[in-house]
Amino acid sequence: MQGFQLEIWPEGAALFRRAVEIWQEQAAAAIRQRGRFTVALAGGNTPRKLYAALTQTPGIPWQQTWLFWGDERYVPPDHPESNYGMVRRILLETVGVPASQVFPMPTQAGDPLRDAAEYEATLRRVFGNECPAFDLIWLGVGEDGHTASLFPGTAALQVQHRWVTVGQKGEEPRLTLTYPVLNQAAQVVFLVAGASKAEIVKKALTTEAHLPCQSVNPKGRLLWLLDAAAAAELPLPAVGLLG
Ligand code: 6PG
Repeated sequence: MQGFQLEIWPEGAALFRRAVEIWQEQAAAAIRQRGRFTVALAGGNTPRKLYAALTQTPGIPWQQTWLFWGDERYVPPDHPESNYGMVRRILLETVGVPASQVFPMPTQAGDPLRDAAEYEATLRRVFGNECPAFDLIWLGVGEDGHTASLFPGTAALQVQHRWVTVGQKGEEPRLTLTYPVLNQAAQVVFLVAGASKAEIVKKALTTEAHLPCQSVNPKGRLLWLLDAAAAAELPLPAVGLLG
């Protein structure tokens, strides 16, 4: 794994305040440089509190924000498992991102490969034919070391010639950005909280376990943003060295 930054915050509230701060910093820099802020959102439970905190934060430049997803369960947008549906309920129904700047992953073709190709076409329309360089990509990590929908032992881990592919969680298909896109980002943040992640965080940050999350090595900056519970298994002396 390449070098990375490590931040450990005492508990959830401080962690999500810092996550909001990073969002604000990255958005301000991107808008200054390019007039827009492109961000790919993580799914699952952890980032819900970040999205909720953003709705309580004044001055977020939503008019210049372009929202994408890092992965999506292959369910309709109104399904309880939908990552887009989760962000719509928590964030989009409250803040005013122009609808033309919100790009959910399509899941309605009845064919995940077709929908993956459709999302790649969408990325080409927005970013052009160069591999998208998102200003910020939020990622979580599963207890098996997966990230986005790049699960251990699946074909998606090998995909280098596509920007979007079909991930597999067991028998469940998902859509996911691929490593070439994740690793083109200006900034990737792993947002990880809770004691259940302590073991995988230790494995990911201190061993060569070849976990899917360990292949995220962006051209830009990589930050592991943890709460104390998720960092609890890290060797204390190493904490100072890892960051
Ligand atoms: C998803 C996510 C997935 C998630 C991890 C952690 O669609 O579920 O993209 O990669 O980030 O599974 O999930 P939790 O935050 O719920 O622990």
